[in-house]
Amino acid sequence: MTDQLKDLEDEVAARTAALNTQAELDALYTSVLGRKGGRLSQIMAGVGKLPKEERAEFGQRANESKLRIESSFASAALRLRDAGLRSELAKTYDVTFPATAPKRGSIHILRRTLNDVVSFFRSRGFAVVLGPEVESEYYNFEAMNIPADHPSREAMDTFYLPSGALLRTHTSPMQVRAMLQHPPPIAILVPGKVYRRDALDARHAFMFHQFEGLQVGRGVTFAHLKGFVGDLCRHLYGPERRTRFRPSYFQFTEPSAEVDVSCGVCAGSGCRSCGGAGWLEMGGSGMVHPHVLRSAGYDPELYTGWAFGLGIERIALVRHNIDDIRLLTENQPAFVEQFQ
Ligand code: PHE
Repeated sequence: MTDQLKDLEDEVAARTAALNTQAELDALYTSVLGRKGGRLSQIMAGVGKLPKEERAEFGQRANESKLRIESSFASAALRLRDAGLRSELAKTYDVTFPATAPKRGSIHILRRTLNDVVSFFRSRGFAVVLGPEVESEYYNFEAMNIPADHPSREAMDTFYLPSGALLRTHTSPMQVRAMLQHPPPIAILVPGKVYRRDALDARHAFMFHQFEGLQVGRGVTFAHLKGFVGDLCRHLYGPERRTRFRPSYFQFTEPSAEVDVSCGVCAGSGCRSCGGAGWLEMGGSGMVHPHVLRSAGYDPELYTGWAFGLGIERIALVRHNIDDIRLLTENQPAFVEQFQ
C-alpha cells in the first residue's frame, strides 16, 4: 500500500507538469484528491485490512503523500497562471520589441553663444547681472547723457508703454543702475533682451539680445578696452580673427568706437559675405562719459572705465555663417538641429 502511495505521488507529479489548462488541472485534482472516489481516498480506505500495529505508521505516510501531491498541484496552478498572464500581455504589448531611444534636444546657438560670452567674462572675474526689460526714460536715456529733446532718442525707435515707461533699447541703462549699487571698482557683464521699433527683415529684429561689458576703476584706459575686446573676439571666433576700432559717436562714451572683426570667410580681403569690406560690424564701445559716471555717483576725476554693447544674434550669425536673423527665432527643427 505504501508503494501505491509512492506511485500516485509520482504519477501526479508527472501529469501536473505536463498539463496545459485549468480544466485539465481541475479534473485531475478531483480524480486524485476528491473526497468520494478520489484515488487517494481509495488507497486510504484499505487501511482497515492492515494489521493494527501498522495502521498508525501508514496514516502518517498517507498524510505526507497528500502534502506532496498538493504541492504538485499548487506549482502547476502557479505555472498556468503565469502562462495565462504572459499570453494576455502578448495580445497588447510585444515585450520583446526593441525600444526606441529618446530623441535628444540640442542647445540653441543663441544660448550657446551667450554661454560662451558668459564663460569668457567669468574667467576674467566679471560679475553677471541682469536688469529690467521694462525701463524708465531716465535710465535708458537721461542717465546715459541723452537729454529729452536730443535727436538720438528718435534714432533709437523706442517702444513706449502707456505708463510712460519703455522697453529698453539697449543694455546700457544697467551701467548706471549697477554703479549706483556698487562702489568702484566694478566689472560686470549684462546680457539680455532689448527692443527697437524696427521692421523685421534679414538683418533687423524688433527684439534681440545684447550684452554690455563695463569696467570702471582707477587707471582704466582705452588700451584695456582694446585688449579685452580682442581677447573676447578670439575666444568667440577663433585665434586667427583680428579686431578693429573705428571712431564713432555715442552720447554715453567719449571717445567712442565701433568694433569690427575680420571676416572669417575672406580673412579681411573682401568677399560677398562681408559685402567686400573684409570686416564685420560687432557693436559700439568707448570710454564711459564723465556725465554717466557722475549720474552713478562715481567721481570722474578719480575713476575711468570702458563699456561696450554687442549683439548676441550678430555674433551667432557670424560664427555660423548664417545670413538671416529670422532663422534664429522661427524655430524650424531642421534649422535648429543642424548645430548639434
Ligand atoms: N548701447 C549702444 C547700442 O546699443 C552700444 C554701446 C554700449 C556703445 C556701450 C558704447 C558703449 O548701440
